[in-house]
Amino acid sequence: MTNPIYLALDVPQIDPAKALVEKLKGHIGGVKLGLEFFCAHGHHGVHEIAHASGLPIFLDLKLHDIPNTVAGAMQAIHVLEPAIVTIHASGGRAMMEDAKAAAADGCKVVAVTMLTSLDERDMARTGLSGSANDQVLRLADLAQEAGLDGIVCSGHEVGAVHKQWKDGFFVVPGLRPEGKATGDQKRVVTPRAARDDGASVLVIGRPISKAVDPVMAAREIEATL
Ligand code: C5P
Repeated sequence: MTNPIYLALDVPQIDPAKALVEKLKGHIGGVKLGLEFFCAHGHHGVHEIAHASGLPIFLDLKLHDIPNTVAGAMQAIHVLEPAIVTIHASGGRAMMEDAKAAAADGCKVVAVTMLTSLDERDMARTGLSGSANDQVLRLADLAQEAGLDGIVCSGHEVGAVHKQWKDGFFVVPGLRPEGKATGDQKRVVTPRAARDDGASVLVIGRPISKAVDPVMAAREIEATL
């Protein structure tokens, strides 16, 4: 089995980020770089991390704009050869279709459904009725219709989404090994539980990056899978 752990590299400076991936590269399956890293370090930063790690890169850019603009952005990142890129499902079907069509061959395009920072009151204020769970399932359907590879969702939803989208590719953040600090993450599950429920990629940041011994932490998590 290939290692499903993608390290969320939420480290703002390039040199410590490179040092961390160099240390961890034998113990993780890929590296997730977010919008903050990309805005700060751009293409150069992505190349540096890809080179230092030799691992697949997940660009978590959460693109959301008109179809033509998102397609143009997807084309502009071909040169980075990302393995996975995120876009927002709420950008609509046409945007998702055009994003997928513009992505490089072999690059998985996955949709962010509901940001976990929003609760149902926030949703209502943006005009969305119903539960967050219903909204996730509705947007997962739309992403599937648009021909995307899968979605990003929490470990609490991945089981239900996997039932309705058998061959979907599911990226799950918000994971904590048994007995470890949850920090600002509220609705956490263990990496093993997410994997058992159908997660394809396990996004893990601080439980590895902030551990006293990051290599040991990654190995311990992998051993539970
Ligand atoms: O450090 P931690 O394991 O909590 O990092 C989780 C990563 O996943 C962070 O990069 C965070 O931005 C991202 N993420 C998340 N929850 C979501 C979507 C993305 O924690 N719903």
